[in-house]
Amino acid sequence: MSKKAILTVLGARPQFIKAAAVSRQFQKIEIPEIIVHTGQHFDKNMSDVFFKEMSIPSPQYNLKINSLSHGAMTGRMLEQLEEIILKETPSAVMVYGDTNSTLAGALAAVKQHVRVIHVEAGLRSFNMAMPEEVNRILTDRISNLLFCPTDTAVKNLKNEGYENFNAQIVKSGDVMQDAAYFYLDKAKSSSKIIERLGLTSDFVLATIHRQENTDDQTKLKQIIDGLNRINKEVRVVVPLHPRTQKILKSTSISTDFTIIEPVGYFDMLMLISNSKMVMTDSGGLQKEAFFFGKHCITLREQTEWVELVENGFNRLAGASSDAILNAFHEMSSKESNFNIDLYGNGKASEKIAQHLKSWL
Ligand code: UD1
Ligand code: UDP
Repeated sequence: MSKKAILTVLGARPQFIKAAAVSRQFQKIEIPEIIVHTGQHFDKNMSDVFFKEMSIPSPQYNLKINSLSHGAMTGRMLEQLEEIILKETPSAVMVYGDTNSTLAGALAAVKQHVRVIHVEAGLRSFNMAMPEEVNRILTDRISNLLFCPTDTAVKNLKNEGYENFNAQIVKSGDVMQDAAYFYLDKAKSSSKIIERLGLTSDFVLATIHRQENTDDQTKLKQIIDGLNRINKEVRVVVPLHPRTQKILKSTSISTDFTIIEPVGYFDMLMLISNSKMVMTDSGGLQKEAFFFGKHCITLREQTEWVELVENGFNRLAGASSDAILNAFHEMSSKESNFNIDLYGNGKASEKIAQHLKSWL
């Protein structure tokens, strides 16, 4: 194996989408890549579908590590990733975002003195109760190259003293915008989801999966109640993450809106771009709403994507049924000009690949 190969560690749905954009650029300029799938997400509609739709190169390894507590999952990944790094001797390890797979990949690399590249560096919610916040802070701290999606992300790192660390900060823009723009035409020509569900443009697209909401019965009940109330006015469609599906099955919380299985990326692009509004606790979906000129109500108390809130595209409603309904009414009559470049306008992955060409 070429010494110049980057070893990319992936595991969760949003990472497949981010990697699709970057791997495509690697192929264009012939940066060799070894992909390791930790197995964190494993259902066909949470993993395989993304590799197929977006022609992501098949992983050389799949560790099949999932459905464990945070410590057990991260620990087992760390152990197996170390073995792979020792065998493959990559020139660097690349990780995306803030999942347990991200932290395990970064830790395995740094312990073997292999350089770490973090895509989507510098984001902060300032809520240390979130597993994602812990993962992203630790990953940033042991990375050598930090690709930041926004000015705020760069500022966060500077505030934490990163200019004094042995790490390079690069503002790249957001690779999810590249993916959304690149795959939209393919989605339009292949997805049938709008017809299948009989949707008009008068529907709200919602997703819920964050641990802070799903594992707190009071919060989950409030969010579901908010969506039930909105569904009386306009149809609410929810592709439901397996985490939330499992939890709802074990409770008596009842749902009146349209629940569907998680969908592939192409269906998701069609759902977002045809919706009236988006409501979510997802990180990625908040930005995708903006990419397609849709207002978003975020079902959390904080967001890492503060520029969306500052520009009035996004409202934080937390997990309160009343606040969600009020935000829906307010946003329904709001007009916004979404024509502003917050995330690099689809050029982030090209920037990343070009930077790596000389950095590696
Ligand atoms: C993880 C990330 C979160 C990210 C999300 C993207 C961490 C700490 N969390 O959360 O930041 O927003 O992915 O979707 O890494 N499950 C299935 N089938 C699957 C995948 C998961 O049934 O294909 C089940 C698991 O068995 C588990 C639950 O969903 O019971 C949660 O999965 P897990 O990977 O631990 O965390 P996510 O909630 O997916
Ligand atoms: N997504 C998808 N199908 C779904 C739900 C989400 O393709 O049923 C996509 C969504 O469009 C976005 C990404 O998955 O690109 C976001 O992943 P998720 O919400 O799971 O994670 P987060 O961004 O919160 O980490």
